[in-house]
Amino acid sequence: MLWPMCGIVGYVGSQQALGIVIEGLRRMEYRGYDSAGIAVVDRSGADARLAGAKKAGKLANLEKELDVRPLPASTTGLGHTRWATHGGPTDGNAHPHFSDSAGVYTDLTGKVAVIHNGIIENFARLKAELAAENVTFLSETDTEVVAHLLARDFDEAGDGDLGAAMRRVVNRLQGAFTLVAVHADAPDVVVGARRNSPLVIGVGQGEAFLASDVSAFIAHTREAIEMGQDQVAEIFRDGSVRITTFDGEVVEGKRFHVSWDASAAEKGGYDWFMQKEIAEQPQAVADTLLGRVNGQGRLKLDEMRLSEDELRAITKIIVVACGTAYHAGLIAKYAIEHWTRVPVEVELASEFRYRDPILTKDTLVIAISQSGETMDTLMAIRHAREQHSRVLAICNTNGSTIPRESDAVVYTHGGPEIGVASTKAFLTQLTACYLVGLYLAQVRGVKFNDEVAEVLTQLSDSPAAIAETLNRMEPVRKLARSMVGARTVLFLGRHVGYPMALEGALKLKELAYIHAEGFAAGELKHGPIALIEQDLPVVVVVPSPKRPLLHDKIVSNIQEIRARGAKTIVIAEDGDDVVAPYADFLFHVPELPILLQPLVATVPLQVFAAELADALGYDVDQPRNLAKSVTVE
Ligand code: F6R
Repeated sequence: MLWPMCGIVGYVGSQQALGIVIEGLRRMEYRGYDSAGIAVVDRSGADARLAGAKKAGKLANLEKELDVRPLPASTTGLGHTRWATHGGPTDGNAHPHFSDSAGVYTDLTGKVAVIHNGIIENFARLKAELAAENVTFLSETDTEVVAHLLARDFDEAGDGDLGAAMRRVVNRLQGAFTLVAVHADAPDVVVGARRNSPLVIGVGQGEAFLASDVSAFIAHTREAIEMGQDQVAEIFRDGSVRITTFDGEVVEGKRFHVSWDASAAEKGGYDWFMQKEIAEQPQAVADTLLGRVNGQGRLKLDEMRLSEDELRAITKIIVVACGTAYHAGLIAKYAIEHWTRVPVEVELASEFRYRDPILTKDTLVIAISQSGETMDTLMAIRHAREQHSRVLAICNTNGSTIPRESDAVVYTHGGPEIGVASTKAFLTQLTACYLVGLYLAQVRGVKFNDEVAEVLTQLSDSPAAIAETLNRMEPVRKLARSMVGARTVLFLGRHVGYPMALEGALKLKELAYIHAEGFAAGELKHGPIALIEQDLPVVVVVPSPKRPLLHDKIVSNIQEIRARGAKTIVIAEDGDDVVAPYADFLFHVPELPILLQPLVATVPLQVFAAELADALGYDVDQPRNLAKSVTVE
């Protein structure tokens, strides 16, 4: 079975659906890029039918197909980009899936078309039931079951109500799913259903949208409505919207205004989104910090729905996150423990609930997630809430599932991140973690106001320091481009430099497909030093010389590996020339207090990985096998 984790868009209005859907898919292709497909309602003939196209591979393949075989004009349509965890993505398995209760359908036309993100767990049983009624299946997907059920149900009811048919069908499904459907005989409506995976509504003037995220329709409207779990949305040609529960009860969706515009989701002259997003980091961090201090100079976190009493009662913090967000959590531990003296554990979200973690109502679980949809992290917070712990989300995506299911949220306000590899999301997550640490310290009275204010001032200096770091990246780019032959690269760090080493290695693995590992520098002598051989590139993140204990130790570590032939690439603070004799390449970053150093020292690691990947001819924004939003466990 293929498990889609995909980008979804639906449109109804007065504009041509084809252009709008393709544009939406382009903006969401980062979610999955194994195949793409589209369907529109074709009212040109006597008998209303759907027309569609789908192609394995990237969206460009679908666009080529549409050039050769254009679709009819239509103002109602939907489209899909797909990511599969296993099994070969083919044209036939691409979405949409079509059906017609009269049995007159192919894999590109029929009466009903369905797209899907998630897994229909009981599809085998439903498929057997349909097969027994002589329904012919054209694909191997679970999704196709929904197309056949919907076609039959719509015709059996005979009332032309696609929303009602969808409600009846979803009540037969088990699993996680976002579904969007159109029907040739209901051309003025597009219907969506949501359980566990994301779906958001865009409300325009005389038009409406359904999409996995707002970037799909941001060029047309910035007015959006969040959808809750187990809800069905019907969007109509006049721009009106009706949301109901799976049981048919009408509910009011939460409206919100998207604070960024279409240009934020475009490359704007950069070669890749990742390059743009790296460059946006000073602004993104500044935006995370914006408006966090009240008239009395005290830190305030507007979306913090936990009371000061609740925060004072906390005895332990557990950070749960995945990948890059997990690395942000590892760094946050150093800062939060130092500032608050509350013990902090950091746990991979995918491991968390399986180890029976000790959770009480006085445990604060901090979930860090750019997308707010990562299934591993979502499952971790659900487990924590079942155990009555409080959950605070640090998230970049307004209205996404993780903040919705948390007790409190601090939004990072980083703007859309489209490159699959996290860059500005990482720095803004770190910034939000610092804010949370300082806020806890303030609320719990373990830091004086002027101490909190001092760190806030240092934080407010960081965007300029990040900008300065970006100005110095040419030698990093040059070095990366000279290293296309590297087979392995190691990364070392101490203190917050250790999670930075992990992050540097992750970036290189995912973008340049080069074997890379991050180590705590002190751990090297306990085994990994055996890996060092002549000319092996080793990147070392050096802490400030103002922390002599740490600094001296890492300088010794650099000497140890250099003595064994390593080519050392050293990232050190301005003015730190002690390391110069042991560095084959030395890059200086502006001075920041050690806890904040990741805000600048991560930048060369990001640039290094992206440039090396590009030099190797890889797609920097869409690395192989990955998807931006990992909505399966
Ligand atoms: C790596 C990367 C991933 C994500 C991880 C969590 O560059 O982007 O490791 O950090 O999949 O994603 P979110 O933050 O959306 O939960």
